[in-house]
Amino acid sequence: MQPVVRFLTENKKIAIRPGSSLLDAGNRAGVSIRTRCGGKAACLMCKVKVEDQSFLTKPEKSEQLKLGALLEEGWRLACQAKVTGNGDVEVLVPEDPLKSAVRALLAKQKEEDLW
Ligand code: FES
Repeated sequence: MQPVVRFLTENKKIAIRPGSSLLDAGNRAGVSIRTRCGGKAACLMCKVKVEDQSFLTKPEKSEQLKLGALLEEGWRLACQAKVTGNGDVEVLVPEDPLKSAVRALLAKQKEEDLW
């Protein structure tokens, strides 16, 4: 049986082959995970949070160097973290900063319209 990767915020899940990266899982599930370097552990845009990393590969040196202390907070590079196949994985993808900014602007505008 294939492990399942669940994207909690998007409420999507996908069964995926062991050894696949979380970035691959996101692409197959239709979840947008930002990337600029094409999965080379260079841009850091694919950061995702995984609270229980029991069924992910351990971070390689390049990922450790890039993420530093963020690793201890549960952050991983989606392009580097791979599903081991021993169990399912739950992933939180942070909101795109541009979307966050637009949302905050709209909320502020709506608040001002109420006055
Ligand atoms: S896609 Fe660039 S660091 Fe993962």
